[in-house]
Amino acid sequence: MEEQQFNVTYKVYQGRNELDREDQVLLEKASIAREGAYAPYSNFKVGAAAILENGEIVVGSNQENASFPSGLCAERVAVFQAGARFPGVPIISLAISAGSDTEPSNEPAAPCGNCRQSIYEYEHKQGKPIRVILQGSQGPVYLINAISDLLPLGFNSSQLNSQ
Ligand code: THU
Repeated sequence: MEEQQFNVTYKVYQGRNELDREDQVLLEKASIAREGAYAPYSNFKVGAAAILENGEIVVGSNQENASFPSGLCAERVAVFQAGARFPGVPIISLAISAGSDTEPSNEPAAPCGNCRQSIYEYEHKQGKPIRVILQGSQGPVYLINAISDLLPLGFNSSQLNSQ
């Protein structure tokens, strides 16, 4: 028997203004997208903005439904849209702004499990990390180096082909 360990290092910034300019812009786009979320059932609004290798920025926000499971998270709206509009163009970073619509949240919300898996699909396909930038509706910002850091032992296509 041998014991293995996962080690994840991420950066915590006190606010958006401490980020590099490009990350600041991306997070700003995510928080603007958040305003357009359709979240009448949870009142929890999320905005996401992905910057691609070709410089394009694609945004998304959560879209809810009276039949609850039919809704979709902001992160998947953004990365699926990136995949559809710019097939094969790598995603460099994904910024996420999340919080209740009724009171400000200082705590970043990390993507749900389904979104981690969906984002990881693209990271695995492109062979380059997708950086993740997280913020609540305000307050500290977390910078994670790769979505796989949030999904240890992630499932990917290589498992489908292994015997
Ligand atoms: N939500 C997201 O958009 N992203 C996440 O990673 C977590 C949750 C949305 C789904 C739903 O519309 C609302 O937030 C409450 O769960």
